[in-house]
Amino acid sequence: MDLMELFFVCLGAAVVVFYGVKMVRFAKMLYPRVCFPQPDSFFTSMGEWAVVTGGSDGIGKAYAFELAGRGLNVVILSRTKDKLDRVALEIGETTGQKVKVIVADFTEDDMYEHIEENLKGLNISVLVNNVGILPSHIPCKFLQTKDLEQPPSPRDAFCFLRITKVINCNVKALVKAVAPFGVSTPMTGYQKSNMVTLTAEDFVRTSLEYLQAGDKTYGSICHTVLGWMVQAVPQQILHSETMQDSLLEYVKKRVGT
Ligand SMILES: NC(=O)c1ccc[n+]([C@@H]2O[C@H](COP(=O)([O-])OP(=O)(O)OC[C@H]3O[C@@H](n4cnc5c(N)ncnc54)[C@H](OP(=O)(O)O)[C@@H]3O)[C@@H](O)[C@H]2O)c1
Repeated sequence: MDLMELFFVCLGAAVVVFYGVKMVRFAKMLYPRVCFPQPDSFFTSMGEWAVVTGGSDGIGKAYAFELAGRGLNVVILSRTKDKLDRVALEIGETTGQKVKVIVADFTEDDMYEHIEENLKGLNISVLVNNVGILPSHIPCKFLQTKDLEQPPSPRDAFCFLRITKVINCNVKALVKAVAPFGVSTPMTGYQKSNMVTLTAEDFVRTSLEYLQAGDKTYGSICHTVLGWMVQAVPQQILHSETMQDSLLEYVKKRVGT
């Protein structure tokens, strides 16, 4: 075998091993219960309470329900007391677990002490740091959002500008967040659910199965495949103007704007 032939044989073997390992990793995602098993007491063994930010609607509400169903008491946080109370009552009646509500606006800077005060003494096992906002319901690039440098509404004239609110909520409040693609919630205008756009309940149920699968999860097999497809696209192409504009157009059409 000459040197050139040897080089190509080694290259071929390296490619087979590389993609083989990827395939094995992917196959593990198909069977989360087998590959990343959790004992029944997984959540309750770490403490009695789960804390869910943005827990009064959408994905956060579904997490609060699911975790209460698995035996944890839950603390739900959001801005609207009425919504929080309604969801707390529903969860309590459905699961028999205790539910505590904390009114907090994560776009503000000064509410962390208030939250800490209200969480004192609770034996917390799980934090679902789910809260997040879209600067605009019409998808667009962040810095091109309409009125980004204005207060969110005239009556908020002396409050933070929209850009500061979005940064406070989506960046400051963030530690780590599950990274889904589409989930049908108020944030996405309750898009019709299908194989790709999941209901909040389905998404939450599957995402909890991947807790042992590493630091970051797409939360479902379908979104994992999408994630891998996106990662396979070279960054220069993915972040090119043309690609970003076509993606925005596609999303706009789907949300019907
Ligand atoms: N839906 C999707 O397809 C999708 C995809 C990828 C990532 N995500 C992420 O998943 C998370 C949840 O999304 P979602 O679709 O469930 O959103 P959602 O339907 O808009 O629900 C948001 C929740 O957060 C609360 N909230 C909003 N702004 C808040 C603030 N400033 N301070 C405190 N609470 C606030 C809302 O209640 P109040 O309005 O009463 O405060 C509500 O309970 C977000 O971080 C989002 O970026 C969603």
